[in-house]
Formats: sequence, structure tokens, C-alpha cells
Amino acid sequence: MSLSNMNADLEAADKRFHFHSQTDAARHEEAGPLMIARGEGAHVVDLDGRRYIDAVASLWCASLGFSDARLAAAGASALETLPVYHTFNHRSNPYVAELAATLMPLTPMPEGRVFFTDGGSEAVDSMVKMAWYYHTAHGEPSRRKIVARNGAFHGSTVMAARISGLPAMHRSFNLPDCNVVHTGRPHFYRDAQDGESEAAFVARLVASFEALIATEGADTIAAFIAEPVMGAGGVIVPPAGYLPAMAQVARRNGILVLSDEIICGFGRTGNWFGCQTLGFRPDMMSIAKGLSSGYAPIGGVVVSGEVYQALAQEAARNGVFSHGFTYSGHPVSAAISLEALRIYKEMELPAVAARLGARLATGLQLITRHPLVGNVRSTGFIGGVELMADRDSRTPFAPELKVGAMVERQTRAHGLIVRNLGDVIALCPPYVVTEDEVDGIFEKLARALDDVDAELRA
Ligand SMILES: Cc1ncc(COP(=O)(O)O)c(C=O)c1O
Repeated sequence: MSLSNMNADLEAADKRFHFHSQTDAARHEEAGPLMIARGEGAHVVDLDGRRYIDAVASLWCASLGFSDARLAAAGASALETLPVYHTFNHRSNPYVAELAATLMPLTPMPEGRVFFTDGGSEAVDSMVKMAWYYHTAHGEPSRRKIVARNGAFHGSTVMAARISGLPAMHRSFNLPDCNVVHTGRPHFYRDAQDGESEAAFVARLVASFEALIATEGADTIAAFIAEPVMGAGGVIVPPAGYLPAMAQVARRNGILVLSDEIICGFGRTGNWFGCQTLGFRPDMMSIAKGLSSGYAPIGGVVVSGEVYQALAQEAARNGVFSHGFTYSGHPVSAAISLEALRIYKEMELPAVAARLGARLATGLQLITRHPLVGNVRSTGFIGGVELMADRDSRTPFAPELKVGAMVERQTRAHGLIVRNLGDVIALCPPYVVTEDEVDGIFEKLARALDDVDAELRA
């Protein structure tokens, strides 16, 4: 089929031939796509020429916006020099070697190593396999279970989906058990008991993790996995002390601590990595998204020196470390990521995210007065707005009303793109926005909330 490049033809082609990620397929056949044609700074422009500020940076990834010439040039240069090569069997390329050397000193595990994947889900899967391999290396192959949190999102491959604690990720897929157990999420606003203080809430979650370890048996548990700030689960910023205490309990029980930094990494929380902001030390962390500013598919697992030594010794016993992907360390993705890290360092990234984050926090405090808003939260340059039918009694909207989706649709009418996670509106703008543009995001969001409020009343 050849397309005339007419907008209608392209939309028809997408409806007819393209099976979309995380989309209502039947509705798509009728409604069709929002076709994004190009990008400019923090803005994108659709096929009909409508311009939007993208307050969620594509899918939490376009940290440098949508038109960075240096990233494009780095990719083009690698494409012309070495468009593809693999990293199996001791092969490497200059881009990936320099990327690893630039990345590792920024991590909390500079003595460790980085293993590259094609994206986030593969990084999470790899991290779990590495945890199993690690325990085998230490003579404890019975440590197979993974403890994750309710509401977590860790990706869409079989293991990453199974670890995710979102019912929609499991429904109808009939996923195997995979030795995954879930524990409570640190959502103080929604899950605290009446009159419970944050400290008491944290103590209750930690005690319930300890009880779960006792029930399951510490010697059956390989790892505890957590995002520092839960992104797709509703931008849940944990109370102070929660993650350090959970990590301490895990470590005391010989359980590895895995930090899923796929959203939180690369400055998002105001430090290079979310575990630094939330105050815990992981044994491994998964990275993706901001690593290349989303300009090329790439992810990775950063492992501590201690984990690396165990994996390397076990691999030596087996001959090789029999894990990896055709595109692990892909030269084009690596070149773009290397350039992204250079730009992040030049712009003094964690500080920029902290400065923009202060403006985001101000905007959130203003929007919290809106009658549809129950709770706002943020850390660094990531935030969430939780909608409520009745804010005083904390009564959520009936899920079938899909109020979050109504708001998302309405924001687009005002030239703003956000992501609704149920009835939470997520904000994770590119770092290239100005402070005035941050204010503009809240002005547009407030207008969209007014529209939806009027629609609900009608
Ligand atoms: C925390 C977290 N982990 C894992 C993933 C999966 O990454 P990918 O979609 O690149 O496979 C995501 C994606 O949004 C994520 O937010």
C-alpha cells in the first residue's frame, strides 16, 4: 500500500494496520490516533498543525525536549560511522565504552559495571535474572522470590509485568506465577489510616514487609524492587524514611535491593538518581528513558562492585555470562546517550531539575485549590495531581466516569499534553522548559479542570 501522505490516509493506515501499546484497540479503530508529526523544544505539533506543550516529555523520557540538534548530530554521526555492531563475545565500540565510563561515576555505584539493554522492561528482567544468578553464585539458589509493591509499574515483558502491581497489567494475560509477591505501596494520602501519622504509616509498611519475609521465608527471597518515586502507579512520593527502612530490612535478610530508576534516573528527582534523593543504597538499578533523552531505544542495569564480582565469578564457572541482546550497547543509541550525558553535565542537570521543580511545586500548590483536586505531590521535577469527587471526605470519582481521561482530553484542547494514570494527572516536563512555561502548564491544566468540572455538573 502506498500512502499519498494525506493526513486522512495516514490516520486510516494507523487505524487499519497498527496495533497500539496500552491503547483501547476497538476505540482506536473509531477514534484514530493523535498523530504527532514533529517537535520543537518542549512542544510537539500534530499532523493538523496543532501545537502542544508536552508536560510528560513523551513518555517520561524526552528530557531534552524534541529538537536537540546535538543529539541528532551524535546519532547521525554514529549512523555514518558504525550503524550497528553487537557487544557479545568481547566485541565493543568506542561509543559504548565512553558511555559506560561517563555514566558510572555519576551513579552511586561507581566501582560497579553497567550492562546495556534495549529499553526499560528488558533492564528490569535482566536485573531479576542477575539477582537469581547472584544468589546461585552465593550457593543460595532457593532465593527466587521477588518482592514488589502494589501499584508498581516495572514494564511489559513477562517478568516485568508480573512484578508490576497494577491489576490491568495482569488481567486476561494469565501470566505465570514467577515467584512474585507484593507488599503495600507508600501512598500516605490514600492508604494511611484515620489519624495515622506519616511515621506510624511508614512503621506499619515496614512491619508488614518484615511479616511477609517471615511468612515467605527470607531464604526464599531474592530481591526487593522499588521505584524511588512510583511513576505510572500514580506519581507516589514515599514518606521520609520509608525506603531507607525497607532497604535496611531487605539487607538484614540477605535480600538484594533493586532500584527501578527508569523514570527517576538522570536528574528527575533533583539528584542524578532517585535513590540518592530518597536516601537508600541499591545493589542494582535499572535505567532507560532519560539515558538517551528518549532519542534512541536504550536501557541498562547498573550493578554494584560486589554484585559484579559475584556475577563474573559465576559466569567464569559457566564459561560466559549467557545473557544479552543483539542491540545491547548499540552504537547509535550509545552515541546519543553519551551526548545526552554531556549535555546534562554542561547544563548542571540535577540543579536545573531542582530549580524547575521549585516552580512545579508552586504551581501544584495553586492548583490544589481547584475543587476537583484532592492531593498534589512532587519531588524534583516530577509531580502528580490526584482528582477527587469530594476532597473533604477523600471520596474518589467512580472509575467508570473516567474523570482523569476527561481531563487529559480537555488539556489537549488547551494545547497541553499530560498523562492520566486513572484519576492522577502526571507532570514530568522536559528540562528545556522555562519557568514561565511551567506556569503556563498549570494555567492550561486549570482551564481543563474548569471545563471538566462544568461538564460533570451539567
Ligand atoms: C519504572 C518503570 N520501569 C520500567 C518501565 C518499562 O520501560 P520500557 O517501556 O522502556 O520497557 C517503565 C516505563 O514506563 C517504567 O516507568
